Amino acid sequence: MPWKVSTVIELDKQTKEIRKQKVEESLKTYTPSNPRHRADGLTAAVKEDEADPSSGFTAERIYSILDDLIGAGFDTLSTTLNWVLLLLTANPTVQRKVHAEIDDVLGKRQPKLDDKSKMHYCMATIHKVSRFAGINPLSLPHDATKDTELK
Ligand code: HEM
Repeated sequence: MPWKVSTVIELDKQTKEIRKQKVEESLKTYTPSNPRHRADGLTAAVKEDEADPSSGFTAERIYSILDDLIGAGFDTLSTTLNWVLLLLTANPTVQRKVHAEIDDVLGKRQPKLDDKSKMHYCMATIHKVSRFAGINPLSLPHDATKDTELK
């Protein structure tokens, strides 16, 4: 699907451009003692590695982590959340059980990673939504870097 590949390459170019602008904006007000967000954390890593050129981490490489997070983390999550809302609306019994587990385990506080192991019904629901919606059925494009013979 060459047209898909060229679209992805074009989007990747645009994303990098946006990221570059945002990082430049953010650098104007950066203070190491007061990290505000991930870009500041990465800026701290860039500054640290400038002091040690042998580390091999260039600013471009470190900031490309932001491209990964934006490219891989936004549309995937927002589309999944849309499916979650749609399917919970269509399945009120499941919605009530999810809600009850959230009330039970979290109450009014924010969730943390450890809570996952206590929230079997919510986790099962998320997995079921992923299976049902299949938002990325062909996954990312992969390409062999050299010819390989199996068996
Ligand atoms: C429901 C949400 C998500 C779905 C359905 C999803 C799906 C996928 C899929 C199918 C792949 C390709 C795996 C492969 O074939 O190699 C992938 C890779 C990746 N995802 Fe996600 N993803 C989600 C959320 C996120 C989030 C929130 C982030 C980061 C903030 C993220 C970061 C990545 C990265 C960095 C890779 C590349 C991993 C590698 O091969 O090195 N994803 N994801």
